Amino acid sequence: MKIFLDTAHIESIEYYASLGIIDGITTNPTNLSKATGNPTQTIQKICALLPDCPVNVEVTHEEPQAVYSQALAIHKMASNIVVKIPCHEKYYPVIKQLVQEGVSINITLVFSLLQSLMMCKLGVDFISPFVGRLDDIDSDGIGLLNEIRLMIDMYEYKTKILAASIRSIDDLHEALLAGADIATLPMNVLEKAIKHPLTDEGIKQFLNDWDKTGYDSFPE
Ligand code: E4P
Repeated sequence: MKIFLDTAHIESIEYYASLGIIDGITTNPTNLSKATGNPTQTIQKICALLPDCPVNVEVTHEEPQAVYSQALAIHKMASNIVVKIPCHEKYYPVIKQLVQEGVSINITLVFSLLQSLMMCKLGVDFISPFVGRLDDIDSDGIGLLNEIRLMIDMYEYKTKILAASIRSIDDLHEALLAGADIATLPMNVLEKAIKHPLTDEGIKQFLNDWDKTGYDSFPE
């Protein structure tokens, strides 16, 4: 499974990109509003930092024709851009046209299997089911991932599942087992995923025990 970082925070992207454990970036108006500076420059910097990885950028207009023009403009910002468009029925014609024009699209705010089916039929590259936001309303976010995986495999659609709105390491664990192609993680979840308290404790214990040997240097 690929891991995308769900942030527009440049220093964090630089750090995790240097480690080689992230495969792409997702942004949205919320995380761009938390980043300092001009959003256009922020996106350009992110695209330059990860030139071989998809960088997902969401449209900020509402009216379909404005969404279409903005999607084309975002697409032209860099060769690694994926344009995020909300899964709303008013955007279907625009999505269809953009797919035909070769624009890479990630459909965001996906909350049902049937929405996912329609997007697979439109031929988009990615769909983003929002796990955490479904759980917030006592629905089953991971259950939806399982259903979408089954549908895509059964009917051999090409669309990739990008598990979004991942709020915890349990969500990440479940998304992995559900066969999501990608999970996009906020910083706090990635930080928790790469740590384990028993590893910290074990290192401390082994270092203490090493001191008991009375040897400073090893090997001599
Ligand atoms: C990513 O593409 C989504 O915009 C993001 O995962 C949404 O997360 P949230 O539901 O925690 O805001």
